[in-house]
Amino acid sequence: MRNKVTVVGAGNVGANCAVRIADKELADVVLVDVVEGVPQGKGLDLLQSGPIQGYDVMVTGANDYEPTANSDIAIITAGFPRKPGMSRDDLLLANYDVVKTATEQVAKYSPNCIIIVVTNPLDAMAQAAYGVSKFSRNRVVGMAGVLDSARFRTFIAMELKVSVENVTAVVMGGHGDTMVPLVRLSGVSGIPLTELMDQATIDQIVTRTRNGGAEIVKYLKTGSAYYAPSAAAVEMAESILKDKKKVLPCAAYLEGEYGINGLFVGVPVKLGAMGIEKIYEISLTPEELALLKKSAAAVQELVDVLKKK
Ligand code: NAI
Ligand code: 2OP
Repeated sequence: MRNKVTVVGAGNVGANCAVRIADKELADVVLVDVVEGVPQGKGLDLLQSGPIQGYDVMVTGANDYEPTANSDIAIITAGFPRKPGMSRDDLLLANYDVVKTATEQVAKYSPNCIIIVVTNPLDAMAQAAYGVSKFSRNRVVGMAGVLDSARFRTFIAMELKVSVENVTAVVMGGHGDTMVPLVRLSGVSGIPLTELMDQATIDQIVTRTRNGGAEIVKYLKTGSAYYAPSAAAVEMAESILKDKKKVLPCAAYLEGEYGINGLFVGVPVKLGAMGIEKIYEISLTPEELALLKKSAAAVQELVDVLKKK
């Protein structure tokens, strides 16, 4: 039986998710978008790449959800970027409507799927998908920590001129300015970061990681990052589809872990066939815990705005 993945939103992140899924031959893909012709055109274009790239998966596009029926995973990337004059709350409310509709349709046609949320503001959108789908908490997961940790790892490798493959790094918390890169738990082949760099360099890298998304927006001007974000979402999808049980930082619905209750926040989780199979509650120093709580409070503020809707 072939795997099937729905990707909602055939924009930059969504289309690149489809490319990566096809290149890895992970699953058949259905792209869904509101713009007529775009998911169909991108789907056909990707299908025609198969003979050249050497993959044998079906890629199709649609403006409705019927063709998505019985997907194993739905990756939700649909949404609006922030436009001039739009407040953070305006974006929140606009994307809430998009994620709500997408989730309702995904849950209707694929009641057994696992939802990976990408749309921003990430943690609040994951919370929305969880509330609307009424899925159990293991079946709704947000993508942010994999991306933020990849940025942290990249900057460490660049600074030390070592292979990025030897660099491990953990970023917890919400996907925003308050994210928590955990220096104490990051390093190179088991060597703690603090033995390899002075504090000023570490601080600089931590700040660059926190601003990683904004740095790309500044270059692109008309959009945000999509190569690394799609790679991150597909790493999560692959771990689920192949039951690899990778331990990755992801936004998960916490029910008391880290003293946080009823909120999506980035924490290390095990991703396997059942979705989030374990949430790791690691020991944090009082300072690290305070930063995590501060980050959770920022997510809570957005969730509270949605509650008034
Ligand atoms: P994009 O603008 O290229 O694509 C968004 C797509 O969503 C467009 O094709 C649009 O037509 C579609 N869309 C809008 N409303 C829809 C609806 N109701 N149903 C189906 N499709 C709909 O944007 P991009 O770059 O792909 O980013 C998508 C989202 O992912 C944004 O919210 C962005 O902020 C977020 N993002 C999150 C990251 C994370 O780390 N969690 C990283 C990168 C992006
Ligand atoms: C990023 O971090 C925009 O959230 C997106 O690149």
